[in-house]
Amino acid sequence: MKVLEVVELTKRFGELVAVDGLTFHVDKGDIFGLLGPNGAGKTTTLRMIYGVLRPTRGTVRVMGVDVVRDPVKARSYMGVLPEESSVYPRLTAEENLIYFGKLKGMDEAELRRRVKELLEALDLEEKRYVIADKLSKGQKRKLAFARAVLNKPPLLILDEPTSGVDVMSAREIRSLIRQYAQEGSTIIFSSHNMWEVERLCKTVAIINRGKLQHLGSVEELKRLSESKEFEEVFVKLVKGEVGEAV
Ligand SMILES: Nc1ncnc2c1ncn2[C@@H]1O[C@H](COP(=O)(O)OP(=O)(O)OP(=O)(O)O)[C@@H](O)[C@H]1O
Ligand SMILES: [Mg+2]
Repeated sequence: MKVLEVVELTKRFGELVAVDGLTFHVDKGDIFGLLGPNGAGKTTTLRMIYGVLRPTRGTVRVMGVDVVRDPVKARSYMGVLPEESSVYPRLTAEENLIYFGKLKGMDEAELRRRVKELLEALDLEEKRYVIADKLSKGQKRKLAFARAVLNKPPLLILDEPTSGVDVMSAREIRSLIRQYAQEGSTIIFSSHNMWEVERLCKTVAIINRGKLQHLGSVEELKRLSESKEFEEVFVKLVKGEVGEAV
């Protein structure tokens, strides 16, 4: 089943075509990695998928629902970690999650259980009663991740989920991503960490200057570029040193 379907997705900012005719889909339970150099169009793509940026052209469907035509319904299927994540600065770490869980209509007991579980997993327990404004950058980021996954939505959209996060918590985030996929969630995330991408992703899309350059499994892309090391694979493919573009 296609949880996410992107067709001919395009975004222009004046003269710049930031995202240029992207077509791909993500099946249920997959972990899909969106890769590309700085400015490739990853964040712009993800923002169109979660409906805060209107495409110039093309469509996005989540669970069959068009995000432009029915944004409220489409959004109800998603948990989102934006690139510039913002938590409510005046609420405590715990209140941020409780407030959000209530907005999502979560059952009180389940919400309390999830909040405790996530604060523990992400090493934020000590900061439970601290207002978010007083958290470090990485702690805010982890809190925003917890918020995105709180109600285990069918589609998780994570823009660089481990960036700025310490080693232990990054491991925990990867392990949670894997766990949610096993439980049936579908994940699309962007990353510059090729080691992480190789370990997590079933399918990888490489975009460059807004265009889809390569799409395939880690193994397929390794074969195509005749490299064993995924960072080298990425560099070769982005530089256009091997293979045919899709
Ligand atoms: N609101 C905007 N107005 C004008 N140009 C924009 C806007 N947002 C993004 N861009 C441009 O679109 C291109 C793609 O940006 P985007 O943020 O999607 O890149 P990215 O792949 O997420 O990069 P990074 O790895 O640095 O996060 C860039 O050239 C950027 O300057
Ligand atoms: Mg980005």
